[in-house]
Amino acid sequence: MRRRIAAANWKMHKTAEQTRAYLERLSAQPLPSGVDVVIAPPFTSLAAAAPLVRASGLALGAQTMHWELQGAFTGEISAPMLLEFGVRYVILGHSERRAYCGETDASVNRKVKTALDQGLVPIVAVGETLDERARGETAAKVMRQTRAAFEGIAATALTGVVLAYEPIWAIGTGQNCDPAEADGVMATIRSCVAGLADTPILYGGSMNAENVGAYVSRPNIDGGLVGGASLDPDGFAALIRNAA
Ligand code: 13P
Repeated sequence: MRRRIAAANWKMHKTAEQTRAYLERLSAQPLPSGVDVVIAPPFTSLAAAAPLVRASGLALGAQTMHWELQGAFTGEISAPMLLEFGVRYVILGHSERRAYCGETDASVNRKVKTALDQGLVPIVAVGETLDERARGETAAKVMRQTRAAFEGIAATALTGVVLAYEPIWAIGTGQNCDPAEADGVMATIRSCVAGLADTPILYGGSMNAENVGAYVSRPNIDGGLVGGASLDPDGFAALIRNAA
């Protein structure tokens, strides 16, 4: 039985002060026990988030990290730095990092290896653009990204990973992917690398409290990686309840 996961990717939103206010409000609400809730704030809010996340039984995530443990990499953050704050999950290969920050299949692979070595749970994000979808290249793209992310990693080591299918054209657009279509792509992802049969796969792309139920009722969809709809604590609490 795979775990349900609702992961909040705040992207570049919320100061430390806003993070505290959000988490106080979120933890005041009844949340179902059957859903693992991950909060991935900006790095600068991890210290503020850590005690509140711990006290309310949520998990802390980061939005990226470097593959090296330390070194001359100006502006970067390493796995040990994340672990010091109690971070358990790290999003790797998000399409915004690939598009704007030079993230490649090869760097995602190095980061996945480091995350697993260090005891972090990587949430590996894959997905196609609108043009790639129109050209019928969705399956080829997500298979390439998935195989590359896990290249050189034994199937037995993949029990500790989470995947996210995020069609790029659905991110932040209000145009969510049809749940049946997303489920089909996730079946492709699940079967393209040995060891992913029990891996939680999250859907990401304009997911909200109203549409989450239609996703998690599908056989290959285990929850969501949520951007915009995770920024309001009441709305995200409703999403978590509807994911249960
Ligand atoms: P939205 O939920 O804002 O579409 O963002 C999805 C996403 O990119 C989560 O990582």
